[in-house]
Amino acid sequence: MAKEKKANVLSNAYGASMEKIVSLAKRRGFVYPSSEIYGGLAATWDYGPLGVALKNNIQNIWWREMIRMNDNIVGLDAAIMMHPKTWEASGHVENFTDPLVDCKKCKTRFREDKLDPQAIADKKCPECGGELTEPRQFNLMFTTHLGPVQDHGSVVYLRPETAQGIFVNFKNVVDTSRVNIPFGIAQVGKAFRNEITTKNFIFRTCEFEQMEMQFFVKPGTEDEWFETWKTKRMDYYYNKLGILPENLRFHQHGEDELAHYAKDAYDVEYQYPFGWEEQEGIHSRTDFDLSRHGEFCGKEINYLDPQDNSRYIPYVIETSAGLTRSVLVCLMDAYEEQDLGEDSRGNKDIRTVLHLHPNVAPITVAVLPLVKKDGLAELAKDIEMELREDYETFYDKSGAIGRRYRRMDEIGTPFCVTIDYDTKESKDQTITLRFRDSMEQVRIPRSDLAARIKLEIKNYTRQA
Ligand code: GAP
Repeated sequence: MAKEKKANVLSNAYGASMEKIVSLAKRRGFVYPSSEIYGGLAATWDYGPLGVALKNNIQNIWWREMIRMNDNIVGLDAAIMMHPKTWEASGHVENFTDPLVDCKKCKTRFREDKLDPQAIADKKCPECGGELTEPRQFNLMFTTHLGPVQDHGSVVYLRPETAQGIFVNFKNVVDTSRVNIPFGIAQVGKAFRNEITTKNFIFRTCEFEQMEMQFFVKPGTEDEWFETWKTKRMDYYYNKLGILPENLRFHQHGEDELAHYAKDAYDVEYQYPFGWEEQEGIHSRTDFDLSRHGEFCGKEINYLDPQDNSRYIPYVIETSAGLTRSVLVCLMDAYEEQDLGEDSRGNKDIRTVLHLHPNVAPITVAVLPLVKKDGLAELAKDIEMELREDYETFYDKSGAIGRRYRRMDEIGTPFCVTIDYDTKESKDQTITLRFRDSMEQVRIPRSDLAARIKLEIKNYTRQA
């Protein structure tokens, strides 16, 4: 196998500063500041051509792993605006609050639980030293009005989680689908929280997307299912998203962290440059939600088990992952700067590469004619059109081949195919297949290309 150069890793996900990721994301069209032409809007972001492709790929792999690969999980897409009683029943109206303090001098607002304990003890603003107010509970739900009259009766909330759309549809799904407990309902969608601490790029934003699955089980079996889902979800991060094991861990919620509905909860945490933070919550929610919705709608929501004719309110194991936060995890984890020694002019040769798993990479394969002339461009285009049937492709005919490879490395394209004179002249039209991580190259017949890429994706393990 031919190889371009030997790489020494300079900086990886953990060592990379957030500024570098933000800059690459902007420069290459992953994520832009929202409404940028008007100076932007705090903590809101838009996903550019490569960002939306990455996000869609993450969503698709999650959906596939949940729905296609399990016999007993079905999908749902509930509305963002729900009956306001939903949020009384769920406990969000009463409990979904953060304790906030304001600086009387500079007017900055802080979450009290995120402040340095000394600042709270002194009641001093960490920005300007001004006096802090007493904490007030601030509800994180956004409100709006449904219909033309803006009075108390028309208030509705933008959902702060997708989960409640699943609970209120539990009976509909049982009555209309051939599901039996244990079974799950999964959905992906937008959620909104009026967060105060919104730094760190797309990590915590007011508008974000979640991928949630509620798994309904017979009471008494919840601990076993909780363990099953913990294992499955961690496995997904390692093997389907290709996240480095050393950057992932479980964190069990202590008594003081447990949400009002939870019997037990584990977070899948990711190691960011700013510390270990939650990526996904796995919660044992008992029958809290279905019982409360039964109480609030005036009709118990229960389940008749055909196995033994018992009737009960199912218990729930929830897996709740951030989709937009997954985009950040994939970008951070994949990011690497490598020292490749010197280039042909004697300058330091630094390669920036995203080791994105081929499952999520925005472009799977780039097709590059070595030169434009002598029919090579047309031949390359023909090969690219053929690969389009199965893969996200990109065709790039201009610039030095080395520079074209580097552009693809920087956006995480795992495979490049180069078409040269031998391709045109050889009987079986051999092409060069180049691998992003190792920079190794192999020469194979055109007819083997699609199958070879499929195999490489199936067996993919990241190489530094
Ligand atoms: N239904 C349970 C629930 O919503 P959560 O721990 O509040 O649980 C689940 O949220 C996941 O949603 C988090 O692990 C995180 O990935 C994502 N998430 C929550 N708040 C977010 C925010 N403000 N911005 C981006 N992602 C967020």
